[in-house]
Amino acid sequence: MIKNRKVGIIGAGAVGASAAFSLAIMGTCREIVLFDIAEGVAQGKAIDIAQATHYSTKPTLITAAQSPADVKECDIVVITAGVPRKGDMTREDLLMINAKIIKSVTEDIMKYSPNAIILSVSNPLDVMTYTIAQITGWERNRIIGMAGALDGSRMAYQIRKKLGFGAARVGALVIGDHGENMIPLPQKANVGDVPLPDLLSKEDMEEIINRTKNGGAEIVGHLKTSGYYGPGRAIAFMVEAILNDSKAVVSSSVLLSGEYGHSDVCVGVPVVLGSNGVEAIVEMNLDDDLKKKFDTSVKTVKNGIDILKNNNFFN
Ligand code: NAI
Ligand code: 2OP
Repeated sequence: MIKNRKVGIIGAGAVGASAAFSLAIMGTCREIVLFDIAEGVAQGKAIDIAQATHYSTKPTLITAAQSPADVKECDIVVITAGVPRKGDMTREDLLMINAKIIKSVTEDIMKYSPNAIILSVSNPLDVMTYTIAQITGWERNRIIGMAGALDGSRMAYQIRKKLGFGAARVGALVIGDHGENMIPLPQKANVGDVPLPDLLSKEDMEEIINRTKNGGAEIVGHLKTSGYYGPGRAIAFMVEAILNDSKAVVSSSVLLSGEYGHSDVCVGVPVVLGSNGVEAIVEMNLDDDLKKKFDTSVKTVKNGIDILKNNNFFN
């Protein structure tokens, strides 16, 4: 249950700080506490964001934690800590490094915010969400991976661009893993309640699928680093849904237990977000083609989980 409207953000890099900024501007929380392992980062950003709140309509207390112990009694803790892939690192190397970071961060959350809902953001998203679920052993409604909210916003952007209209009224759903096998569903999208298939050709929708899948890489191509305003806003939207008990349906990575025919894996599916975190998993009817795609997506995540299992990570 939500008590203090207090949100911890662990990893005050580009995405963590953008989430804090978005929440502070919207006045969603009573308090936001930032922590980062790099000296000065959380402190500097907390001051900067706190000063920006002078022009917010609702006050938010923004502080920097000196140590993980200061991220205490939070209702929600967002994990945006991690390291980017460097030169000679393999994906497997990166997976092991980030999993170790996530493990230590998660153990701190269990100690200092034992009743929190955890919003997992670090990559590889679905495998890290599974890691958090395994380490905590908490009820699955309290471990939520953010990716579908971002990928959905990227698909909505492509739809608006293609149509030239529809601002703020595009319903766009992406399920599956947050990677190359994600499943954008333009056939189920709508614009101002009009079904997208009535507005665009099959070829246009195929193009939207490809552009959505490439949405993260497109930004990296320009910036040489991944996006952060879109991810920050998507995180803030999910935090708002939980703190405000809005029961919004948001594609999120959650531990499946038989839903969509899969178990023991975290992957993106539509869920209802409220003050208990994931309050329901929405099971859609998938045709055979989509079922196959979903199975492939699950397999990709399971391959990542197997790397951790084969390295005795969970023992
Ligand atoms: P960044 O490099 O700007 O920030 C990461 C921060 O984590 C750094 O400031 C670093 O000092 C900190 N950190 C590392 N280890 C830590 C620890 N043990 N405790 C506390 N802080 C620690 O990276 P950025 O762009 O903010 O991305 C963060 C993560 O989010 C990455 O893993 C990225 O791939 C992922 N991401 C996920 C998205 C999604 O849709 N799920 C979207 C965008 C990014
Ligand atoms: C993104 O999709 C890297 O997951 C990150 O931008």
